[in-house]
Amino acid sequence: MTPSRSRLRRACASALLLLVTLATVACQSGEDAPQTSLDPAGPFAAKPDGLWNLTFGIAVIIFFLVEGVLLFVLLRFRHKEGRVAAQFHGNTKVEVLLTAVPALILAGIAVPTVGTIFDLADKPDPDAINVTVVAHQFWWEYRYEDFDFVTANELHMPVDKDVYLKLEGAVDDGFGGAEVIHSFWIPRLGGTQDIVPGHANFIKYRADEPGRFLGQCKELCGLGHGYMRIVAHAQTQEDFDQWVSDQQSPASEAQQGDAAAGKELFTSGEGMAQPCAGCHSLEASAAAKPNVGPNLAHFASRGTFAGAIFENNTENLQRWLRDPPGVKPGAKMPNLGLSSDQITALVAYLESLE
Ligand code: CUA
Repeated sequence: MTPSRSRLRRACASALLLLVTLATVACQSGEDAPQTSLDPAGPFAAKPDGLWNLTFGIAVIIFFLVEGVLLFVLLRFRHKEGRVAAQFHGNTKVEVLLTAVPALILAGIAVPTVGTIFDLADKPDPDAINVTVVAHQFWWEYRYEDFDFVTANELHMPVDKDVYLKLEGAVDDGFGGAEVIHSFWIPRLGGTQDIVPGHANFIKYRADEPGRFLGQCKELCGLGHGYMRIVAHAQTQEDFDQWVSDQQSPASEAQQGDAAAGKELFTSGEGMAQPCAGCHSLEASAAAKPNVGPNLAHFASRGTFAGAIFENNTENLQRWLRDPPGVKPGAKMPNLGLSSDQITALVAYLESLE
């Protein structure tokens, strides 16, 4: 084999290796990548995914065509002893072709693109579940006004039913400042929309199968932006109905021991900088006053807390109450300087709010 041939072979092998590496590292889904739009679990996520597959397929074909022609030209017309390049300026035929072909391809892709945009913007099914999502720094409020209750940080939805989310931006942050823009997205269930203060956006979500789906606020909204996780539980209609009826009934509270002391502390705030009840409502009713901090009715029935970033267990609650901004940078809940006894009592009370 001549030296130039072996060099060419090596170059081709390197290029192929690079291509395979790029193709395999960039697109991941499954257990390790729960926030992926490449593994849709409902029709409103499947539509944009299908569009992506189509355009990606077209792009791959174009890539190989263009690179193929380029390689052919490079090899076919490469430098040779005594060969002189043809000298000319412009080629109308080629230029018209190179303008018309991409324009036609783009016009072709526009057809399913516009169709998808209109499909996704359509009103949901008439039996859709309506949920108002209010974004706060740095947690989520879910208002189920049709069922007259409010909850925080964990969205519940029945499978095989449209969920129509009204994304509402709070105007003030409850601490004398202005709220900011957030953005809602659970990639496996639907698209994404910004949540703008003083404005309402709407988006449809739907899950084909029961499961726990994760998302993330995706608009830089302050120090706690990275700690603003979204959790959605897609449930069978039966489980969802049960959950709704649990939320509608008053929370059962333990009335003795640490939990009773915690209840007293929660409301009176005795020996604390301020009582918990000043910011957190224990009344799930949607008519209850707006929440400065997450509504805590039925808190013990949630799997996570503080923007769905911590698992709801005794150890995490203790760490949280000891110093909220210390464990979640940017958290608006101040460090209340609680003693160990106060923390034990408050955690016992929170864990009794079934
Ligand atoms: Cu809220 Cu980023």
